[in-house]
Amino acid sequence: MKRRKRSKNLTIILLPLLLAVLVVSGCPRRARDVEQVGPAERIVIRFSHVVSEDTPKGLAARKFAELVHERTNGHVEVQVYPSSQLYMDGEEVDALINNHVQMIAPATAKMTEYFPELFLFDLPFLFEDYDQVHHFIDSQSGQKLLQGLHGHGMLPLTMWDNGFKVMTANRPLRKPEDFRGLRFRIMPSLVLDAQFVQLGAQVTDIPFSDVYAALERRLVDAAENTPSNIWTKRFYLVQDHLTVSNHGYLSYLVLTNGEFWNSLPENIRAILSETMEEVTAWQRQIAQEKNAHDLDLIIQSGQIDVYKLSDSEKEAWKKALHSIYNQFLPQIGQQLLAEALALNNCHTK
Ligand code: LMR
Repeated sequence: MKRRKRSKNLTIILLPLLLAVLVVSGCPRRARDVEQVGPAERIVIRFSHVVSEDTPKGLAARKFAELVHERTNGHVEVQVYPSSQLYMDGEEVDALINNHVQMIAPATAKMTEYFPELFLFDLPFLFEDYDQVHHFIDSQSGQKLLQGLHGHGMLPLTMWDNGFKVMTANRPLRKPEDFRGLRFRIMPSLVLDAQFVQLGAQVTDIPFSDVYAALERRLVDAAENTPSNIWTKRFYLVQDHLTVSNHGYLSYLVLTNGEFWNSLPENIRAILSETMEEVTAWQRQIAQEKNAHDLDLIIQSGQIDVYKLSDSEKEAWKKALHSIYNQFLPQIGQQLLAEALALNNCHTK
């Protein structure tokens, strides 16, 4: 009796073991999940950015992380740090150069200090719609520009969209004269500086993470940004008027640390590049939708007066700002600007 009980106990103990041996030897091997990849084998990519998760950039960074996890079976872990959790504007580029993070996606405006050709993207009214922007980026000139944006230890991977900027202020902005005397928050770009100075306004370069407080405390009276940034960071709560001007484009340069990138195994680099290309295409779809949706939410909130600039008002803004093109010709380069303008002409709706 006792003997039978002991052998029954043994079977209970050994059965799972036996089954495990059978499963391991007899079945195809399952993909390893992240828990099975030892910390020493795992490649970690820290991706820092300054906006909310629910924005075109935030969503793209997250999608990239998810796809990379899937495609490398957890071997590569992209850790995304949104909303300046790790580094704010002015810090994240240094963090990338020093390999404290391995990917960032700053607005092109913030990279003009390193790559002055990027002033092109800040020119007022250069692009009329998303198609024109994409057409330029995908063109030979756009690709040549992108490939040339390396140095200081940084490598360009792709460009991502945010969208067209609108103006917010605590007074209505309809005519160029309305800008006079206002203090605008800008991103650090001499073109953006010139744009507001040309309209008789003053500017202060403020990191994105401090914009809400600066508007709330009236350190500045006004700002330009995309609906998705205005909605997710609640700038519409601390400004009285929004003008849908679509006067400029906010795009991102996705960058990696060159030494880190080159140290990766070739097959991993290939997966990362393909995934980045796929996410870029996906991001192009959602950026436009997200900005349109967030503009609707801002309007529906009833917290800010929203005005859409008429065509003739837009023409007056264009005229007032046109001299900026000539002002920045030396930094942008005549050829690049001419190519961008020519491409836009062939791609006018
Ligand atoms: C800003 O500083 O307003 C934007 O560049 C933030 C962003 O990354 O979209």
